[in-house]
Amino acid sequence: MSVAHGLRAPATDQPLDVARIRADFPILRRTVRGEQRLVYLDSGATSQKPLAVLDAEREFYVTSNAAVHRGAHQLAEEATEAYEGARAVMAAFVGGRADDLVFTRNATESLNLLAYAFVNATDKARWGSPLPDGAERFILAPGDEILITEMEHHANLVPWQEVCAKTGAVLRWVGLTDEGRLDIDRLHEVIGPRTRAVSFVHQSNLLGTVNPVQEIAAAARRVGALVFLDACQSVPHMPVDVAALDVDAVAWSGHKMLGPTGIGCLWARAEILQSMPPFISGGSMIELVTMEQSTFAEPPKRFEAGVPMVAQAVGLAAACDYLTALGMPAVAAHEHDITDYALERLVEVSGLRVIGPRDGYMRGSAISFVMDGVHPHDVGQVLDSRGIAVRVGHHCAWPACRRMGVPATTRISPYIYNDRADIDALVEALDGVGAVFGSR
Ligand code: ALA
Repeated sequence: MSVAHGLRAPATDQPLDVARIRADFPILRRTVRGEQRLVYLDSGATSQKPLAVLDAEREFYVTSNAAVHRGAHQLAEEATEAYEGARAVMAAFVGGRADDLVFTRNATESLNLLAYAFVNATDKARWGSPLPDGAERFILAPGDEILITEMEHHANLVPWQEVCAKTGAVLRWVGLTDEGRLDIDRLHEVIGPRTRAVSFVHQSNLLGTVNPVQEIAAAARRVGALVFLDACQSVPHMPVDVAALDVDAVAWSGHKMLGPTGIGCLWARAEILQSMPPFISGGSMIELVTMEQSTFAEPPKRFEAGVPMVAQAVGLAAACDYLTALGMPAVAAHEHDITDYALERLVEVSGLRVIGPRDGYMRGSAISFVMDGVHPHDVGQVLDSRGIAVRVGHHCAWPACRRMGVPATTRISPYIYNDRADIDALVEALDGVGAVFGSR
């Protein structure tokens, strides 16, 4: 299997120079909770941004700000070039074509765009309204099935519940093992001739588990289902080649990969995008408009109604350039090293239990844990008092928490600017948690 599927990355690039990288992130120089060094271990929620990204956005506003695809002036032309240039950079970063990449607000919107292709195609078919060629693949009949997994983020769960509520389709899912991996041996029990789409996460934001994309995609192909991947926690962390993955569409966010908030991506095979009815309608996404009806532009414009996020796209392209310069194999290798080290050190903390795979095989750097007798929110508060930023709660993956038998967890999610010293600081602070709450 290749690195695109989350296994160990070959060390083809130079190892990351974390001290040099940290110098590019001004926020990491600030202190918090008094004069304490900020140890930022919450990149799964959102990553920090290097100066190159901040500068690119600022430069766009300082020199070329205009609405794209409409003005008849030089700034509009420059802004359009910047926006379309950013699309090309982002698409190349994941091995795709620019025309197959739609900019959205975030991965949640990208996943809704896919889900609402089913709702809208099914509705339009019911009323005999025009649909793009090939849209039959999105028309659902009562009893058709959508397959997800029990480890999905709510963004890849709730939209599918909505699809089922609106079309009469049935939601099914692949369960989890006690270790927090997909119960893949039971996949054949939940996939079948009525399965119309399989939508699943590449790397779980709660458990860190990396799923076997090719195996699941092959099973979906055998029953003729569409295959969608939530790659929010993989595109920032490992080489992902959309063309090699044999999936129909991939969704991810910009802000978790050093880019700005407010921009996400949906890549889909050209034929899939062509056959999707629009999601949000209005300006920019049309071909012809009369008072009675409209026809729609070709993708990706069909899915980008209104003035898009131009400065954010420019910032996202700068983030791609930054990661490309580091080398994604080197980013993955760095994260594997820090994940192994964190897993090794966390077992030393008395009363701590990792929720999710306890070894580095097919897992990423998001590590959730609970501590005996201390609520995860309290753990987070003690860590915060030491300058250590983590996420606590159900991580928008409530069913997965329930399956793992915990109401909530504390989660670390290191990235390129973290090193072993950050993990040492974490472990030292965790050693003090039991003492603070009198549980040990
Ligand atoms: N989905 C993000 C996380 O896992 C916000 O923290």
